[in-house]
Amino acid sequence: MNLPCRNFLAGAVLVSLLAAASPAARAAAPAQLAPTPQMGFNNWNSTHCRAEFDEAMIRGVADKIVALGLKDAGYRYVNIDDCWAYWQRDKDGRLRANPERFPSGIKALADYIHGKGLKFGLYTSAGSFTCEPKQVNRGFPGGLGHEREDAALFASWGVDYLKYDNCNNEKLDAKQRYAAMGEALRATGRPIFYSVCEWGENQPWLWAGESPVGGNSWRTTGDIRDEYASMLKIFKQNVVLDRYAKPGHWNDPDMLEVGNGGMTDVEYRSHFSLWSIMAAPLLIGTDLRSIKPEALKILTNQDVIAVDQDPLGVQGKRVRERDGVHVIVKPLANGDRAVAVFNEGDGERVTSVSAAEIGLDAGKYVVRDLWQGSQAEGDGSLRLTLAPHATAMFRIGAR
Ligand code: GLA
Repeated sequence: MNLPCRNFLAGAVLVSLLAAASPAARAAAPAQLAPTPQMGFNNWNSTHCRAEFDEAMIRGVADKIVALGLKDAGYRYVNIDDCWAYWQRDKDGRLRANPERFPSGIKALADYIHGKGLKFGLYTSAGSFTCEPKQVNRGFPGGLGHEREDAALFASWGVDYLKYDNCNNEKLDAKQRYAAMGEALRATGRPIFYSVCEWGENQPWLWAGESPVGGNSWRTTGDIRDEYASMLKIFKQNVVLDRYAKPGHWNDPDMLEVGNGGMTDVEYRSHFSLWSIMAAPLLIGTDLRSIKPEALKILTNQDVIAVDQDPLGVQGKRVRERDGVHVIVKPLANGDRAVAVFNEGDGERVTSVSAAEIGLDAGKYVVRDLWQGSQAEGDGSLRLTLAPHATAMFRIGAR
């Protein structure tokens, strides 16, 4: 690998030029709830609606977040997805938990999670029912038309995060439906992270972060599946939306599949690298009570997490896509640059990335390989051999 060069001053100038080129980044206001993308856990990708999704599982996962060092690594939210609710509201129109899955109730679960120094997230839909098909579990009530009372109930339970889905929306205007819940959440007076989940259908990057919706993140795509082809498709849809991400308002290409078994470790490293360089939410989607060491190693790579969580809050920009090789560059707060080089194809690829392509001036740089943990000095350029589906990731800074 040949290494790059540049001094600190040049780096600072480059970073400010880049910020000037991005209207979304320029407009960024301090965002209390999501200065960096959300990190945590959500059960959906590992359980879907199966019976194993219950309060014992979620408590066990919260225990593991602490015990496995994931809390120390930055993972904070423990979010429960669809199928937590009873199929009918109570006689006063209030949502209630499914008593078989959550016999202690949602407030008790939130209290348990808060007791671990973690935050608690819940799910419902901006529709008359959630997404779980009615034929399977009779359907679960959605928030449409109940925004005020549902938000107040969630706040009284100690909810810190709401994922608001898009099923059974009665073809009503998305912006109005998501604004109604955004206003209801703010009216509670409790800070509640607002995760807009309308799958990118109405270009939410253009409106979901703004008033009156006030979303902190918005899904940009349909649902991820635990397959390389699905991860790849979603990456390609999300990577072009870099200019809309900024502190407080993030593109969300859906939750992580790392550890679920449908991809190789090389592919899971690519998944985690690409999500991090895109400043995506890092929501673990595997059952942490049975996670394998290699998956845990991926999810706790502090150097890669630091790229995702960098306080400058810029989503990496793809500067090259050629012959199935993608080069993505993300400027970082201290003037460093993160670079991910991804080989989407089924054959090995040998490729070079010049310092100029990374946006570096001539100079001397330290290049840190974030998966190998190795470091070298040079002019900032990279020469790489990439295995099929592999991603190499670097942090490049002045010496
Ligand atoms: C939709 C969402 C998923 C998940 C399911 C639950 O498909 O996009 O992330 O929440 O609903 O039913």
